[in-house]
Amino acid sequence: MSDRYGDFVQSSIGKKVAKNLGLPLPVTLDRFESGERLVRGSVLVGRANGDDKSVSESVARILSDVHAEVFVNSHDDIKDALADASIEAKANTGGEDKFKVLLFDASNIRNSDDLKQVYEFFHTVARRVETSGRVIVIGRPPEQITDIDAALAQRALEGFVKSVGKEFKRGVTAQLIYVEEGAEKNLDSTLRFFTSARSSYVSGQVVRVGKGDSVEVDWTQPLGGKTMLVTGASRGIGEAIARVLAREGAHVICLDVPQQQGDLQKVASEISGSILTVDITSEDAGAQIADAAQKRGGLDSIIHNAGVTRDKTLAKMDEKKWDMVIDINLGSVAKLNRYLLDNDVLKENARIVCVSSISGIAGNMGQTNYATSKAGVIGLVDATAKQLENNAKGMTINAVAPGFIETQMTEAIPFAIREAGRRMNSMSQGGLPVDVAETIAWLASPASGGLNGNTVRVCGQSLLGA
Ligand SMILES: NC(=O)c1ccc[n+]([C@@H]2O[C@H](COP(=O)([O-])OP(=O)(O)OC[C@H]3O[C@@H](n4cnc5c(N)ncnc54)[C@H](O)[C@@H]3O)[C@@H](O)[C@H]2O)c1
Repeated sequence: MSDRYGDFVQSSIGKKVAKNLGLPLPVTLDRFESGERLVRGSVLVGRANGDDKSVSESVARILSDVHAEVFVNSHDDIKDALADASIEAKANTGGEDKFKVLLFDASNIRNSDDLKQVYEFFHTVARRVETSGRVIVIGRPPEQITDIDAALAQRALEGFVKSVGKEFKRGVTAQLIYVEEGAEKNLDSTLRFFTSARSSYVSGQVVRVGKGDSVEVDWTQPLGGKTMLVTGASRGIGEAIARVLAREGAHVICLDVPQQQGDLQKVASEISGSILTVDITSEDAGAQIADAAQKRGGLDSIIHNAGVTRDKTLAKMDEKKWDMVIDINLGSVAKLNRYLLDNDVLKENARIVCVSSISGIAGNMGQTNYATSKAGVIGLVDATAKQLENNAKGMTINAVAPGFIETQMTEAIPFAIREAGRRMNSMSQGGLPVDVAETIAWLASPASGGLNGNTVRVCGQSLLGA
């Protein structure tokens, strides 16, 4: 779908007009392209003073693995960790050099005075971040810290990161990663995602990385040999998910309702996947999925993407609209998960990813049914994540909550509301289906065993529900 205003401000006259009138200035966001380097520019890394070097050591190892060009401030003792990872870091001389990524290990921050180090690291380089740059802060989960001074300081990082996300503009994203002590080895998939162009429409997010089992992968085909099923795969976001999972090496079973068979077949053929036509609300949907999965030795992942809207204000909403939306978006997802878990259709280290929505977080006029269903999806993920933690099979469940994504669903929104939804975020533009798909590919990766129970918004840091 075309964003005429977004196209107009790419021209020099458009840029001038928008600047003079104080209008939003969306930039063209970096997106994944095969053959491109994972990190498309230099990385400035830093660390708060302290004894715990475990986060820095993991960061250094990962930066070395991705062959990043690394810079460091001269007084920063993260230099040792970088040297141990055989990185010859260049000195940040405070000149005109620009950085694609600013990455700060804040795990040693123990009180409010220590927060000054966050200011000192970012203040001097705040104007030196490239377009579509990345700001990443790594801390410790405050809820696991008993010392009040340390807990408040770690929690404070959230306000810092979310403000940076709103301030830096030009497609720069900002994230906070809370990594549990002892789980630093699980940072790989998350750092690779957030430093790369795959996370272009994800900003202002707080992600928790825990101790779950991550499986080693070949990073050129991280989903190689995996069988993954995507519901609602014939078009829109589901189609993009199927394409990205296949690009990363998975065999994708594309599921949609029988009426969509033509489009579904087209998508599946183009990605060498297979199709399953079934309505997910039908009694035998679980059994049909199980049958299709067993032919390939079971499922490594299910992506619950199928969903519908039937908008009406509550007073005007008939029962049918309520029932249908709750049934498709929530009831059937819970029922399918139960069936697949009870019948061992999901393999060890399987990944369940659900598609929620920022409507489920913020609520939305005319969407009591939809927002209820999508908030319920987050509840389902939270509760199931706890159950899976105690399950020896290493499975995980996470959700994505898309904001305004350019699809048939958003094309149906009246112009004024559509334009507001598109601009009311830190990127001043709508996201693309591929942005949701890249986020799901990260959560569905065998290497993402440390991610369980997260709901990650793919909304360009929308103001709604923030
Ligand atoms: N587009 C957005 O901006 C946006 C924002 C937030 C969340 N979402 C969510 O993303 C998901 C995909 O949205 P989209 O915009 O691509 O929608 P879409 O309408 O283009 O695609 C939805 C797909 O789900 C399928 N489907 C519907 N009911 C089904 C059923 N009972 N059984 C099997 N398949 C069924 C449809 O046939 C269709 O192919 C949905 O869950 C939606 O709620 C979308």
